[in-house]
Amino acid sequence: MRPVEIAKGIYDVGVNDWNIQDFHGYSTPLGTSYNAFLIVDEKVALVDTVKKEFADQLIANIEKVLDPRKIDYMISNHTEMDHTGSLARVMHRIGEDKPVYCSKMGFKNLGLHFPQKLNYQPVTDGQELRLGKRTLAFLETRMLHWPDSMFTYIKEDQILLSSDAFGQHFAGFEKYDDVIGDAIMPHAQKYFANILLPYAPLIVKLVEKVTQMGLPIRMICPDHGVLWRKDPGKIIEAYVRWSKQTPRRKAVLVYDTMWHSTEQMADAIGAGLHAEGVSVRPMYLRKWHRSDVLTEVLDAKAVVVGSPTLNNGLFPTVSDFLTYMKGLKPQGKIGAAFGSYGWSGEATKLITRELEAMQFEMLEPVRQQYVPAQKGLEESFEFGRAIGRRICDQVPE
Ligand code: FEO
Repeated sequence: MRPVEIAKGIYDVGVNDWNIQDFHGYSTPLGTSYNAFLIVDEKVALVDTVKKEFADQLIANIEKVLDPRKIDYMISNHTEMDHTGSLARVMHRIGEDKPVYCSKMGFKNLGLHFPQKLNYQPVTDGQELRLGKRTLAFLETRMLHWPDSMFTYIKEDQILLSSDAFGQHFAGFEKYDDVIGDAIMPHAQKYFANILLPYAPLIVKLVEKVTQMGLPIRMICPDHGVLWRKDPGKIIEAYVRWSKQTPRRKAVLVYDTMWHSTEQMADAIGAGLHAEGVSVRPMYLRKWHRSDVLTEVLDAKAVVVGSPTLNNGLFPTVSDFLTYMKGLKPQGKIGAAFGSYGWSGEATKLITRELEAMQFEMLEPVRQQYVPAQKGLEESFEFGRAIGRRICDQVPE
């Protein structure tokens, strides 16, 4: 239930989106939340809004604290519409002449999203805004994960309103890390792997910058999921670890199959990897969502991709997966392709070409015509072992 007073005079007035199952191509079986923060001081500020269809709920949550017309400043940390879809409605309610603080790129991007001319006030990195007892400091976080992204830091409370960073797609009555416990970490990891992975080098630099600035952080409040109040350092450390993409002795073995031949090869390859001491689980693309597979890719050393040849090409699910993975730019992986074919057999070449374009270190592919006989399965097993040895050569135990 909102609002939740997360610190004295600071409220989360956002909403839970319990039923969303697909967030622009990312599976969200536990829904998500759109957090928005109302800071009540001599001046009142609202940081971020929510998705358009939840505007009424957001306004009702604000009304439980104060009359929305008492809001003096709107702050937009990020232009993406899950946080700005209600902006026009909110501004209509609080007063369209009120300033909307945003980054320089936010100024540009808000104008490209919404025709309505609002009183946009672009801020510079480090600029401050006094509310009375409290001071807000704006911290540009360009490309984390949009050009317009920024954080708002409440200095006196040592609270970082971190926009998408450190979020999780999770809707629940559990509002804080200490309430939900470690059960939230897989959701944070999935969120990182599917949203922030392409910007991993920037995250390392950002953490260094914040460390050099010596900003004390008592609480991190992202715009999605639970707030980190017990141990904000834990999610920062996890982000640094995930950003480095330090691999384990682990392979992702992902495939689709037509008449179970590529599936049989996957099983044999998996057994070969396991025989070399590599952690692996075959992931059938019609049962595993691409976003769950990518979560596994994060700490894997190898990605092994199988497809039958269909009409001289790849199976559509495999093309989908490769396109998705390419955009997320995983680094430092070994790649390998396999698959069954009937007469032309292009699939393994096509997979190899795609993985090479992602700078994967490739092994020669393995393919079997129609149905793999015992010899074909043995070859697949040995292929798995060869991949396993390559992983173990590069990843210490
Ligand atoms: Fe939650 Fe990039 O929006």
